[in-house]
Amino acid sequence: METLRHVVVLVHLVGFALLFGAWAVEAVNRRLKITRLMNWGLLVAGVAGLALAAPWGVSYEMNYTKIAVKLVILLVIGALLGIGSARQRKGTGVPAAVFWLIGILTFVNAALAVLWR
Ligand code: HEM
Repeated sequence: METLRHVVVLVHLVGFALLFGAWAVEAVNRRLKITRLMNWGLLVAGVAGLALAAPWGVSYEMNYTKIAVKLVILLVIGALLGIGSARQRKGTGVPAAVFWLIGILTFVNAALAVLWR
């Protein structure tokens, strides 16, 4: 059970890497774009995160407040990706605040995961 949980954590991290990596590529190229890989990263991190939110394969007390905060942040990132994609399709471009918030909130969620014990 514990090994399976570690595998799901690994999948969760791959989702984070896809989302943050795809965002970083756009940021360094100075393109305020939403890409498909960002949506996939969010989906993978979200599904694996929900699986990890249940207390299986753990021998310690889980921090449910932290998990709830991470879930809310994930939903906000999802909304921002949706707003950004819609603007992009309309040809008006992704608002800078929407683009930067996606990266910042992804980073915040990873920081919460690692630093809030
Ligand atoms: C963009 C969204 C997210 C990012 C960037 C993210 C990032 C991370 C990272 C980097 C870790 C590893 C921390 C460590 O092992 O010390 C982690 C673990 C975890 N995450 Fe997330 N996460 C996200 C969303 C979520 C969501 C939505 C949930 C639950 C609803 C969640 C639940 C968990 C749990 C329970 C762990 C601990 C796994 C364990 O050690 O058993 N995460 N997350």
